[in-house]
Amino acid sequence: MRTPILAANWKMNLNRREAKNLVEDLLKVAFPVQQREVVLCPSFHLLTEVGGLIEGKANYGLGAQNVYWKESGAFTGELSPAMLRDCGCSHVIIGHSERRAYFHESDKDCFQKVEAALQNNLVPILCVGESLEQREAGKTKDVVLGQLQGALKGQSLSSGDKLVVAYEPIWAIGTGKTDTPEGAESTIAVLRQELGNLFGERIAQQVRLLYGGSVNAANVDALMAQPNIDGALVGGASLKADSFARIVNYQTQASLAN
Ligand code: 13P
Repeated sequence: MRTPILAANWKMNLNRREAKNLVEDLLKVAFPVQQREVVLCPSFHLLTEVGGLIEGKANYGLGAQNVYWKESGAFTGELSPAMLRDCGCSHVIIGHSERRAYFHESDKDCFQKVEAALQNNLVPILCVGESLEQREAGKTKDVVLGQLQGALKGQSLSSGDKLVVAYEPIWAIGTGKTDTPEGAESTIAVLRQELGNLFGERIAQQVRLLYGGSVNAANVDALMAQPNIDGALVGGASLKADSFARIVNYQTQASLAN
């Protein structure tokens, strides 16, 4: 069985005081967590502080929102995988659509970042997703498969739990429009099938596949009920302790029946 991951992408938000308050409030209502993992991805300047607050908290992990693939050197403004590890990171988001759109990150960049993360024992959370235009043209699956192959084909992966893939349709990010649970499931199932082609069935069954795009307290249960959806990558709703706690404490069919 795959352990679900509820990941918070804070994007470029929160100062140190706000971050401290948020994590403290979150831990009051969403700790301990069992049979699920929580990954907090703050901006770089908050990593050590947030890492300190969750240190020793079982099933809580720290993620960065970006990484550069070089080990060190004259790359002003960048952070290496080893630097992220030094801050306490276990995960790193790679290829978020905002980075692809505003900072022109290509599939090749994503490949190099994923490779560097894997080599440094950081779990990449690779993001893929189509624009509204691509969706309306019926190209969703082609687009996400192209992004998946571009970042992953040729990587060596010893086990599937070292990789996370997040399907985030661009039109659903920050818009309040979510893909339907069935729609998200269908795209994510195609991604898992392709992971099987790339790495073999055993590894494909271990990779956690997340959905992202306007996930909130009201829609998380239905999304998480889908067989191939192993978690959520949450933006806006992760900036408030009560809404993110409700997402972390999402209800399964079994818990609703009790
Ligand atoms: P929202 O949850 O705000 O739509 O953002 C999703 C996202 O981009 C997470 O990476």
